[in-house]
Amino acid sequence: MAEASTDVARDGARVYVRRATWRDKEQVLNLLEELQAATPGIQLAPRPYIGRIFDQHINSPLYVLLVAEVDDGSGGKPRLAGLLSMALRSTLLHAGVSALVDEVVVAREFRRRGVALALLEQAVRAARAAGCLEVEISTTYGNEAALALYREAGFEEQGIWLERHF
Ligand SMILES: CC(C)(COP(=O)(O)OP(=O)(O)OC[C@H]1O[C@@H](n2cnc3c(N)ncnc32)[C@H](O)[C@@H]1OP(=O)(O)O)[C@@H](O)C(=O)NCCC(=O)NCCS
Repeated sequence: MAEASTDVARDGARVYVRRATWRDKEQVLNLLEELQAATPGIQLAPRPYIGRIFDQHINSPLYVLLVAEVDDGSGGKPRLAGLLSMALRSTLLHAGVSALVDEVVVAREFRRRGVALALLEQAVRAARAAGCLEVEISTTYGNEAALALYREAGFEEQGIWLERHF
């Protein structure tokens, strides 16, 4: 994939999107807690469990785990502002690989600065580079922010997503 991208956010801060590494684990887990808060009915597993999945995903070619750092130009350490995770899997119907975005979240204090858009653009680039035929993404009913974001990033509604939980 194109490994990193830098875009200028609206307030002049720079957004830098890159692959997650093991060093990001704690901050990624914090971001997932923010995602849980925005997703009714989701109960997060204990942090060590999620941490193990994180380790598997950053070491697998079947997952793309991107993080966004925001550098506000103050000279301080750039902060982890957002997370996007995506799974790549082949389907019989497409006879090719389809990418599925599982999580997108931006820390509350960094929202409406183009961070999620930068993450999605980089995810689409990574999917193309991996030879994917499409990228799928979903959200829960009522998440108007996510829906507006996806439309802004060029996604179109194509169907209905159902789940059965165990
Ligand atoms: C949805 C979310 C990821 C958006 O992140 P973000 O970095 O604030 O989004 P961006 O700044 O890149 O927004 C890009 C565009 O998306 C749309 N958008 C984003 N947030 C919006 C909101 N709260 N209301 C309406 N439109 C919104 C706008 O068109 C926006 O462009 P604009 O700011 O120029 O109007 C963020 O609000 C979030 O983390 N929410 C909680 C987790 C979540 O719901 N994740 C998605 C479902 S899994």
